[in-house]
Amino acid sequence: MPGPNASFIDFKFWNTAKVQSLFAKAREIESHWFSGRPVGADSLRPGGTAALLFFEASTRTRMSFETACHRLGLGPLVLDTGGGTSLEKGETVEDSILNIAAMNPLVVIVRCGNAVDLEGMTKLIPMPIVNAGWGWKGHPTQALLDAYTLQKTWGSCAGKKVLIVGDIRHSRVAASHFHLAPLLGYEVAVAGPAPLLGDLPAGTRSFSNFDEGLRWCDAVMMLRFQFERHTGDVQLQPEEIKRNFGLHASRLPTVPKDALILHPGPVNHGVEMDSAALADSRCRVLQQVTSGVFVRQALLHTMIEGKS
Ligand code: CP
Repeated sequence: MPGPNASFIDFKFWNTAKVQSLFAKAREIESHWFSGRPVGADSLRPGGTAALLFFEASTRTRMSFETACHRLGLGPLVLDTGGGTSLEKGETVEDSILNIAAMNPLVVIVRCGNAVDLEGMTKLIPMPIVNAGWGWKGHPTQALLDAYTLQKTWGSCAGKKVLIVGDIRHSRVAASHFHLAPLLGYEVAVAGPAPLLGDLPAGTRSFSNFDEGLRWCDAVMMLRFQFERHTGDVQLQPEEIKRNFGLHASRLPTVPKDALILHPGPVNHGVEMDSAALADSRCRVLQQVTSGVFVRQALLHTMIEGKS
């Protein structure tokens, strides 16, 4: 049985050297990919599989891991929870994970809600688990690919200022950046409607005025407003969000000329971002997606080879 630190649930067992080693590997995989000399597939176990268990909706993360598996020569075993699984017969998420783990994939990649004890599952199955988005607790591979994308432009994230904007309270991406930022030396500040800021780490700078925050930052990361998770205490209209915390054509001149614009996706078009912001030369949204495959390839390769 692997120890819990063989899995990747959060950044608890990570340090700066481990992140930079992963990024170096991702850079190597990326440069080989673009020069037409892909690496990796030959060194993994022949016939090995990776289970992709997505109990919540996903486009990018699921397909990114699937692409990474194909490029590494790992067969992706994808559980399509959209219909036709035994979840419909009342099987629990935990039992589903245990049963698929019994098929001996080399790694189990899971997206699930807050109610699942993902950390606890790492003690119940013999192979590592990767958190591919866990409720609003964390989405560590998204934070890694964001930082990798920023580091590609900046050379280093140390000393940089990243403004995360919008629905911080329900954002697993923001949660993971609060843990990754100290490892790479960037500062995270937030801007958003007061009811959607949630519990912030002590000392986190918060801008009630979005334009002020924009003038402060080196990168602005817009988040999706997760209307499906808003309950009675959050009564915000898309128009109000758009006016106060939307990055639209009229606000683009306020973004510093060298600042970068990110969004983990999916975007609520016309709410937190519009087409002009997505088409802006400072926007890295699609580069984030491209980077994500290299970062996940590097992560899976490292985990399966047992080297960091
Ligand atoms: N960024 C992200 O997690 O997107 P998906 O929900 O589409 O996977």
